[in-house]
Amino acid sequence: MRVLSGIQPSGRLHIGNYFGMMRPALELQERGEAFLFIANYHALTTVHDADALRRATWEVALDFLACGLDPERTAFYRQSDVPEVCELAWLLSVVAPMGLLERCHSYKDKIARGISPSHGLFAYPVLMAADILAVQAEIVPVGRDQKQHVEVTRDIAIKFNNEFGPVFRVPEPAIRDEVAVVPGLDGQKMSKSYGNTIDLFGDPAETRRRIMRIVTDSRSVAEPKDPDACTVFALYRLFATEEERRTMAERYRAGGLGYAAAKQALAEKLEAHFEPMRLRRAELAASPDKVEAALRRGAERARAEARRTLAAARRAVGLD
Ligand code: ADP
Ligand code: TRP
Repeated sequence: MRVLSGIQPSGRLHIGNYFGMMRPALELQERGEAFLFIANYHALTTVHDADALRRATWEVALDFLACGLDPERTAFYRQSDVPEVCELAWLLSVVAPMGLLERCHSYKDKIARGISPSHGLFAYPVLMAADILAVQAEIVPVGRDQKQHVEVTRDIAIKFNNEFGPVFRVPEPAIRDEVAVVPGLDGQKMSKSYGNTIDLFGDPAETRRRIMRIVTDSRSVAEPKDPDACTVFALYRLFATEEERRTMAERYRAGGLGYAAAKQALAEKLEAHFEPMRLRRAELAASPDKVEAALRRGAERARAEARRTLAAARRAVGLD
């Protein structure tokens, strides 16, 4: 089974990214042949600062390796080291229906947030289709907000195959229901654009302060509480075992557990979970050559696949 996913280097990664995309993708690396990449061409649709882009690309590389990406098993690369995807995106763009792209929520949301509507921003899903189809991926693990983009990829692949012959494998999104949307401090979807994130490797004191700011209702310590209506519990459950989850839910319902204590419990879980990764990350940061070598090896593997697919696509359309 071939798995592919990517993430934009457009800010610090947060626990929504971790549970929604990184962890599912890292778990799938055990079961199949995985490709994971840093989508720096995509990030250019919103980041126009060369140093910031370079830095964020590097940070994401460290984050993934620290979180357990095994570069021997998984092809891990920078998107821009596989430039074949850009040519493939052009071949796909001639069959990508305008109406389909115009309906993409992500494009509409970004414009609504004031990002200027460039051609690149509009064509974003076509480049994403090229990433996926270039390596003939079957499964694409993503959070729910990216599902529509994978559906666009499917439509484009089917259309291309119908018009030019069977070049592409048609992929499926893989979305984990239990972590499809990780809530942020305010209870909305956690997203760097909403300023409501808990960063993966943020400063520990700052992380605690942010956890203490999670919005709750105004029930007193003594009152019984509904765990399923509480953002603190929604985050706690991501880190807890089944047993711990049940116990915490019972304490909520019984009354006597205040939100400050629940936040404290969440902070402890989170710190314990990320501590080993934080240490690993510091080690990696001290060996940039190893990280660079891993990214280059990953790019070679992805590029070999992309070249093969691109050659087949060129042949199919008559560009050989
Ligand atoms: P952001 O919303 O912070 O800009 P991205 O859009 O770059 O995050 O998302 C990167 C990946 O992480 C995608 O696969 C996305 O679906 C996943 N993801 C982001 N935020 C969440 C969340 N709150 N819950 C679950 N998955 C998420
Ligand atoms: N659009 C994805 C995001 O913002 C990143 C991405 C680019 C991607 N190309 C991809 C994800 C291909 C999965 C497959 O999160």
